[in-house]
Amino acid sequence: MSGSGAGLGARRVGAFLLPLVLAGCAGRQSALNAAGEDAAAIAQLWWVLLIGAVVLWLAMNGAFFYLSRIAKGRFPEAWTRPLLIGGGIVFPTALLAGLLVWGLGLLPDQRQPGDGLRVRVTGEQWWWRVEYWPEGADQPIVSANEIRLPAGERTEFLLDSDRVIHSFWIPALGGKMDMFPGRETFLSLRPEKPGTYRGQCAEFCGASHAWMAFEAVVMPPEAFDDWLRAEARPAVPAESAAARRGAALFRSEGCGACHTVRGTAAVGQVGPDLTHVGSRLSLGAGRLGATLDDYRMWVEHTGALKPEVRMPAYSHLSDAQLDDLARYLKGLK
Ligand code: CUA
Repeated sequence: MSGSGAGLGARRVGAFLLPLVLAGCAGRQSALNAAGEDAAAIAQLWWVLLIGAVVLWLAMNGAFFYLSRIAKGRFPEAWTRPLLIGGGIVFPTALLAGLLVWGLGLLPDQRQPGDGLRVRVTGEQWWWRVEYWPEGADQPIVSANEIRLPAGERTEFLLDSDRVIHSFWIPALGGKMDMFPGRETFLSLRPEKPGTYRGQCAEFCGASHAWMAFEAVVMPPEAFDDWLRAEARPAVPAESAAARRGAALFRSEGCGACHTVRGTAAVGQVGPDLTHVGSRLSLGAGRLGATLDDYRMWVEHTGALKPEVRMPAYSHLSDAQLDDLARYLKGLK
């Protein structure tokens, strides 16, 4: 291939890739698509640092280009040292120090006290245990793998982990915070725009780290209160014949040893609480959607979908049994 051909090829590849790269900057898992006060502060920090870096780069390289190419020999030798020290040390140090001090000044904002609601999130292998503590509550409302928040209110997060370090991050709502076994960390978020965003574990934690995600749903405060009241209720009984057969399978296969379905004999604490799993927007901590097919697929191919997950695959069940089980779980609204 000729030189110009290669150049054209590279340009074509660039033209193809650029929109893909830029597409990563928008959407529901973008720190630049701020939907809350804390994310807006971080997005602003990002832009100011970017602009600062570009200004510094242009000023220094511009000066270097001007002095060495355009105005070569026009300045006395004696200016060299002051120029190098001023432009190479003093100016970058002052600019970067200014940006650093301003950036560090934003940190306390990420730890403001909340307006009442507390959410405890525990990083598990590889899912999220979620407990809502409304103001004055003496026991939590337990859920998993999805976080719902009232818009316009600041929620406090108490974060920890069962065995390894995870990192809790909802880019569209704010900064990330590590989750350590045996040490509680704190973060507070004030979402502003109702919508569905995506959270993602941001610390490598094992084989399925990349599959450790969740939906973050920001709701108007009244809708959130209704949802939380519904979430606190025990599970609805299975209605259809298929769902009742699924409920019987859930019992006979021993699912209740690991999972809780409040209001039934299933009180396991190892895996996610499934009391209202049917109302969640994703399955397997963001691994799948929430259609009946997704439920069947999750139960049948658990380990293939999420390597090294602690739940065994129930591939010995027949298609009809998987279907019943899916209908039971999907019905747990
Ligand atoms: Cu949990 Cu990465």
